[in-house]
Amino acid sequence: FNVPTPVNEPILGYAPGSKERELLMAAIADARAKQIEIPMHIAGKEVHTDNKGKVTPPHDHQHILGQYSKGEKAHVTQAIDAALAAKANWENLAWEHRAAIFLKAADLIAGPYRYKLNAATMLGQSKNAYQAEIDAACELIDFLRFNVSYMSDIYKQQPPVSPKGSWNRVEQRPLEGFVFALTPFNFTAIAGNLPTSAAMMGNVVVWKPANTQIYAANVLMQIFKEAGLPDGVINLVYVSGPDAGDVIFSHPDFAGIHFTGSTGVFQNIWKTIGNNIHKFKTYPRIVGETGGKDFILVHGSAEAEASSTAIIRGAFEYQGQKCSAASRVYVAKSVWPKVKEYMLRDLATFKMGGTEDFNNFMNAVIDENSFDKLTKYIDEAKKDKGVEIMAGGGYDKSKGYFIEPTVLVVDDPKYTTMCEELFGPVLTVYVYEDKDFDQVLEIIDTTSIYALTGAVIAQDRYAIEKASHALRNAAGNFYINDKCTGAVVGQQPFGGARGSGTNDKAGSMINLLRWVSPRAIKETF
Ligand code: NAD
Ligand code: ALA
Repeated sequence: FNVPTPVNEPILGYAPGSKERELLMAAIADARAKQIEIPMHIAGKEVHTDNKGKVTPPHDHQHILGQYSKGEKAHVTQAIDAALAAKANWENLAWEHRAAIFLKAADLIAGPYRYKLNAATMLGQSKNAYQAEIDAACELIDFLRFNVSYMSDIYKQQPPVSPKGSWNRVEQRPLEGFVFALTPFNFTAIAGNLPTSAAMMGNVVVWKPANTQIYAANVLMQIFKEAGLPDGVINLVYVSGPDAGDVIFSHPDFAGIHFTGSTGVFQNIWKTIGNNIHKFKTYPRIVGETGGKDFILVHGSAEAEASSTAIIRGAFEYQGQKCSAASRVYVAKSVWPKVKEYMLRDLATFKMGGTEDFNNFMNAVIDENSFDKLTKYIDEAKKDKGVEIMAGGGYDKSKGYFIEPTVLVVDDPKYTTMCEELFGPVLTVYVYEDKDFDQVLEIIDTTSIYALTGAVIAQDRYAIEKASHALRNAAGNFYINDKCTGAVVGQQPFGGARGSGTNDKAGSMINLLRWVSPRAIKETF
């Protein structure tokens, strides 16, 4: 069978007066008007509990959108049992039938569910309409369609050589056991991708999203069901991370983890898996995309306005909460005055507020913990004589977790906010002498533990070549004359190494191959 050739889903613009804006606004109004009950989904059944958690928009934290049922360890066990019970039928289903389910899910998101899923992402995760559209709609649709295409390539791979009198072949078996998908708050596309990419390859899954993502996860589960996903193939539970970990990482059938989240959480998970290795039937696959301290390097030959646009968009879209967001910038002194002028000009036009008002470029950060952590860094910076608060610095959590887009200019390239992941709208800039370009390359490469995304902006081809070479291990996704965010499935496979992850490239054949365990068969005639 041939699957349809995937093309990237076009981005809807939601222009004022357009039908699509009207539909999205209606979906938002509908969601805001209700308070829904959000169950877990185990073995295809909705599971409600008396222990409830609230879902509120980060930009309007007193407004209750719904209540989710909190689970406990017993629910994780039930989810594993349900997954294992579904395993034989699911893995024996011919791959083209699995493909059809995920292609239909993509069509449902592109069609009838687009506005509902975007509205859930806008309200639950505080994304503006454009950020929701490129995430919950386009990126997720692309993940599903491109992955189906990579999956078909895997199953149709050229067979091995078979000398006369024999037939050699390779069977792509699903993993022996279940896969645990653990997803972060910041992308609905990642929430959709992590469980489905493992399931696509014939695996059964227990999925635990971040609490601040449950509102969108619930819509995703409705979509998967409507697409025809059989009961028990993906089981969605809302339990604490440690509770899930206690049950899953000591279960003999635990066969793999598909994780995206912070580096510290992933490292602890890895340690636990290592300590329990004797308990598992098979070595579990460990796939994790983790933190970042993504950089933009502006060379003296760079065009100033383009540099400013790349910096501002890279740093402040979705409040700097993309794993790929620019959070440290190194600018040559000769171009800095102009770059700064353009940055201040454009930052002055930014509006901040709820996602329901489409004029707001900036919305709230995800929750109070994040707000408190970020504002502590800002307060420290305000006290430090070596730091200039070039823009922003204000914050207010009375209605929502709002932090102004903040730019710190530091005199020390090793200042804390140049090295640690902050994950919010706080950007730090270091201005270097043009003659020190080589030293700056070394500083970028050595002052953070991460290596997710990075960019160089320059007209000088020698500078581009030098940066590309010197920083080859500093970013898994490297951009030349662009911002460091916005990787597109099918165009730039995404992921980093060092402290940023196992670099198994989300949205690629490399990733799907982690979810199969090949068997080589030789038959002699
Ligand atoms: P997080 O690490 O707090 O949470 C990720 C998931 O792990 C959530 O489902 C959470 O509930 C769960 N979890 C938390 N503690 C746990 C524990 N002790 N045991 C088991 N599970 C636990 O991350 P987050 O705040 O949701 O997301 C932001 C982080 O994700 C940032 O560090 C960002 O860089 C990273 N991220 C990376 C990529 C990438 O591709 N590299 C993409 C998106 C996000
Ligand atoms: N695709 C997202 C980005 O690169 C993760 O920003």
